[in-house]
Amino acid sequence: MMGCLPFFSVETWILLLTFICFFVIYSNRPYGIFEKLGIPGPKPYIYWGTVGRHHKVYYEDDVQSAKKYGKVWGTYEFRTPVLAVTDPEMLKTILVKECFTYFTNRRNFHLNGELYDAVSIAEDDEWRRIRNILTPSFTSGRIKEMFSVMKNISGKLTASMRSKAHNNEVIAVKDIFGPYSIDVMASCAFSLDVDSINNPSSPIIDHASKLFRFPVPVLILQGFFPILLPLFERLGVTMFSKTSTDFFKNVLEKIREERSGSSNPGDVLQNMINSQTKGNDSYSHKPNHKRLTDHEILSQAIMFMFAGYETSTTTLVFLAYNLATNPEVMKRLQEEIDSTFPDKGAVRYEALMQMEYLDCVVNESLRLYPPAARLDRIAKETVKICGITIQKDMVVMIPVYALQRDPELWPEPEEFRPDRFSKQNKQSIKPYAYMPFGVGPRNCLGMRFAQVMVKLALVDILQNYSFSVCEETEIPLEMDYKGFVGPLNPIKLKLETR
Ligand code: HEM
Repeated sequence: MMGCLPFFSVETWILLLTFICFFVIYSNRPYGIFEKLGIPGPKPYIYWGTVGRHHKVYYEDDVQSAKKYGKVWGTYEFRTPVLAVTDPEMLKTILVKECFTYFTNRRNFHLNGELYDAVSIAEDDEWRRIRNILTPSFTSGRIKEMFSVMKNISGKLTASMRSKAHNNEVIAVKDIFGPYSIDVMASCAFSLDVDSINNPSSPIIDHASKLFRFPVPVLILQGFFPILLPLFERLGVTMFSKTSTDFFKNVLEKIREERSGSSNPGDVLQNMINSQTKGNDSYSHKPNHKRLTDHEILSQAIMFMFAGYETSTTTLVFLAYNLATNPEVMKRLQEEIDSTFPDKGAVRYEALMQMEYLDCVVNESLRLYPPAARLDRIAKETVKICGITIQKDMVVMIPVYALQRDPELWPEPEEFRPDRFSKQNKQSIKPYAYMPFGVGPRNCLGMRFAQVMVKLALVDILQNYSFSVCEETEIPLEMDYKGFVGPLNPIKLKLETR
């Protein structure tokens, strides 16, 4: 027998076999959970779980799973059980009714570096306190005050497009919308005039894109061995690029230093600073329910760049693509624009907000391409919802991309049809079938702000130009499998002067 076991001693063999047993048992441990609960779903692979079982692109995978398993199914992100839910009654309970009791928080890897106290990451009472302080900065009144700043930037954007249209250039649309989003965010959030529209090499664009690029090896390692997360945390490993977080931190610290007591630019940063004087005590390093600490202010400001840049840019990129590939929709929209603002007149806030067809077009583009393909919440306790037991600490995932392409909810879901959202048709949209900005108390804080900046840019551009497809336009699009919903290759279009 011993002759069959060359090279190693018996002790080494025992150790090796023990290790293999541990490796297999450890890897298989979480995988029976949905079977036990009677919830269907794809069969997991050892360590990888169900990642990419049906399709390489995770949100296309959700579409396939929804077709196959119905309104609730179980998946495993590596070794983590994730319950996917598209059932409207369950969504109402999870996102709205029981938001404050059982489903207040998102999944948290605790590898957040400096951003641990940003509103999107903070949990329970901390989150409520921060969100309550920030909400007044995003009311319609406040956004209206920022409108002239946005208009100034969208004017620069349309001017910068003139030579491109004139020279019949093929444009990568992200290259025009990325700088617009950055300039609007930086100006409205902290009155920083970056003018990246005219200085495309400005480092701020690079850092804003990098903020959201989670390191793949860390994602995989934490997926395989969640047990190592505390160790990663201790070693200072973070999901958010440290270089980019530090870049924004330095910029913001400088801005704060430069602000004298008397200056009040009325931006989001100043609203946060002003909130500090509302608290009873004067120690700005201690939180209380009315104001933010210095560190919290810094984290929120960075988080706004992080949450707003890529999402708004992607929304505009897909709008341009959908309009170029559906010229009859673009023509109808241009007619609405011309009748609302005759003779290419200046865009006014109230009139912009009342444009019905514009609203339909933006909604439909966000239905087909919601930048955030999935939402998630964590169950604080074991709870039974609509007959389904959701265990404590389980991740509940809402596959928004799949939900918004469900043929039962959206006839011919792949087609771009803005009229689905018209006044007459709106009523027939099922509750909880549409949520590009999330739903409930933890929905997108910047929703109204984003809608205004997107609509303004679109109207200003379409007053002067039309988008058109060209040889370089990829149809249909190949989708990116990393991060947000987005095209794998840059979307390329041409501009025609009107
Ligand atoms: C078209 C652009 C945008 C889209 C599609 C979008 C979408 C979303 C979605 C889906 C969520 C998660 C909601 C949930 O879990 O229920 C979210 C959260 C959030 N968004 Fe947006 N967003 C956009 C722009 C912005 C902008 C411009 C800002 C900042 C000014 C912003 C700030 C936030 C914040 C702070 C959160 C976390 C809220 C919390 O946890 O309380 N977003 N967004």
